[in-house]
Amino acid sequence: MSAILYTMLSLAGLLQSVHGLPYQTSIQELQSKQPLLDGLPSNTNITLRYVALGVGVQNYTCNGTSYVQTQSSDGALATLYDATSYLASNPSAIGSLSIERLEAYEESQHCEESSNREPQLPTLGEHFFTSDMVPTFDIFEAEPTRKLSAAKIQAVKAPVSDAVSWLYLVDCDDGTSDGLEAAYRVETAKGVAPSSCTSEETGSQVAIAYAAQYWLYE
Ligand SMILES: *[C@@H]1O[C@H](CO)[C@@H](O)[C@H](O)[C@H]1NC(C)=O
Ligand SMILES: *[C@@H]1O[C@H](CO)[C@@H](O)[C@H](O)[C@H]1NC(C)=O
Ligand SMILES: *[C@@H]1O[C@H](CO)[C@@H](O)[C@H](O)[C@H]1NC(C)=O
Repeated sequence: MSAILYTMLSLAGLLQSVHGLPYQTSIQELQSKQPLLDGLPSNTNITLRYVALGVGVQNYTCNGTSYVQTQSSDGALATLYDATSYLASNPSAIGSLSIERLEAYEESQHCEESSNREPQLPTLGEHFFTSDMVPTFDIFEAEPTRKLSAAKIQAVKAPVSDAVSWLYLVDCDDGTSDGLEAAYRVETAKGVAPSSCTSEETGSQVAIAYAAQYWLYE
């Protein structure tokens, strides 16, 4: 009797672990397909949690000669969508998702809701800069919620000239990160400021639409 029960229990356990396997396998496989450029550190010592598609704007302020990101209203403001499962099943879309979503966002006059179609991706949270210019990834729509308050460690020129650079960021250790340790910004689309501005434009801000994939690691 107890032997039968034991067999049934181990069978149930086996089925459960088999059932749990595809997600683990596919996220590990996806991690091995992360786009990288020379100059960005390898991702082999960390564990992928989410691939977040960010769609929004990069803000810049004219300092008299150049557009810079130095004040609190500068930097990125983007909605983060969960592209993890979609890209795990469609890895060939890694190279095209950002620009496709950016074009849909621009066509819909920066209306995110109507640009989130085919595939419709779940919202994960928001990417923004704090008043101290700390790049922050707030994954408040996920269960459990996670957060990364980051410091930029590496930047490498994007393969496309009108796209913002690819980055490697890590927890800035100010005690506000939770459940995330590092992020790569890759597959960037647009977001670059005009190359110069004039002294008459000093203090004026521009918001440049962009999209990027943030590969978030725990
Ligand atoms: C992982 O290793 C690389 C060097 O290969 C290092 O630059 C990076 O900071 C490490 N990442 C973490 C989160 O420890
Ligand atoms: C504006 O920013 C650029 C780039 O950082 C810098 O080279 C330049 O000196 C700055 N100009 C002024 C007027 O501060
Ligand atoms: C960036 O500019 C947009 C559009 O002007 C504005 O809505 C947003 O609040 C600005 N971003 C930040 C971080 O203040």
